[in-house]
Amino acid sequence: MTEPEELVSALPALDEREVEASLRPKALGEFVGQPKVREQLQLVLESALRRNRPPDHVLLSGPPGLGKTSLAMIIAAELGTPIRVTSGPAIERAGDLAALLTSLTEGEVLFIDEIHRIARPAEELLYMAMEDFRVDVIVGKGPGATAIPLELAPFTLVGATTRAGLLTGPLRDRFGFTGHMDFYDEGELEQVLARSADLLDIALRPDGGAEIAGRSRGTPRIANRLLRRVRDYAEVRADGIVTADIAHAALAVYDVDQLGLDRLDRAVLDALVRRFGGGPVGVSTIAVAVGEEIATVEEVAEPFLVRAGLLARTPRGRVATPAAWAHLGLTPPTAGGGPTLFDA
Ligand SMILES: Nc1ncnc2c1ncn2[C@@H]1O[C@H](COP(=O)(O)OP(=O)(O)OP(=O)(O)O)[C@@H](O)[C@H]1O
Ligand SMILES: [Mg+2]
Repeated sequence: MTEPEELVSALPALDEREVEASLRPKALGEFVGQPKVREQLQLVLESALRRNRPPDHVLLSGPPGLGKTSLAMIIAAELGTPIRVTSGPAIERAGDLAALLTSLTEGEVLFIDEIHRIARPAEELLYMAMEDFRVDVIVGKGPGATAIPLELAPFTLVGATTRAGLLTGPLRDRFGFTGHMDFYDEGELEQVLARSADLLDIALRPDGGAEIAGRSRGTPRIANRLLRRVRDYAEVRADGIVTADIAHAALAVYDVDQLGLDRLDRAVLDALVRRFGGGPVGVSTIAVAVGEEIATVEEVAEPFLVRAGLLARTPRGRVATPAAWAHLGLTPPTAGGGPTLFDA
């Protein structure tokens, strides 16, 4: 795939970690949006601080790029405790996890990213650790093996997952608090952008921020990425100031349209509407029409098209919604062939 198509991906690019870290909000008060999660978490943390005890374990769930890792860091910062960071795939054996758990100091935050991918034996060890702050370390093999119970310092586990549905029941039940992260509205993304522009020393005008926010798919990571690309354009082709016009022109260069669709998204819609009359048509047919793998169409393009209300997945195949026709500047056909609402 070519470079521009990665622009509106919610996953981080390889070279993006450093700039992301510099843009992470550091305190709950700096964290934009997610008012429900923020308020609930604030109560959990405040009450723990008053009782002088580590708070309940926290699970953060939601799509990529919405701020789960940022919130995990904030939790430790607000508690004034160190944070240990690892991820589900990195914990292959129960022994790895036992070593990590026994090295935690009192009150420390253990952040396990992608916790749904933790290996099963490690997960079982985690149950007891979360519940009783205890682990059984197995020494030896076969009939002579013995379990040595070890006390753990009370800690707070913060788990993050993009696939809460894949978590086993027993693991989910051991979190005292679950924060569900939602996509951001445009006003919230404008605030994210204004804050990032400040930190990166970019002259972003409010109308420029609004233009970028509308194309960011409800995702701060995408908003921040588009901001950097628009900044490049503003510096090279203009006076460095990001206005709506500049943002508009820049994002046209990068093939990101008004709704945040990229070239592939539009190719899929275009094939569906122009070549197959709006469907229903099978996904494999669409994939051939746009010259991509079926999986790319299904996993890269379709989720956002569905969320944006442009495409529906039906048992008979993919169907374009009236909004999809309108987005391409076309009028959907009607059963009777007469004038429709959309002709107005
Ligand atoms: N509420 C927010 N306010 C300001 N910036 C935010 C906010 N949420 C996310 N960001 C920005 O978006 C970027 C991605 O956020 P983060 O890494 O926390 O997302 P994530 O949910 O952990 O994603 P993933 O599922 O891919 O791990 C960060 O660099 C951060 O600057
Ligand atoms: Mg993360």
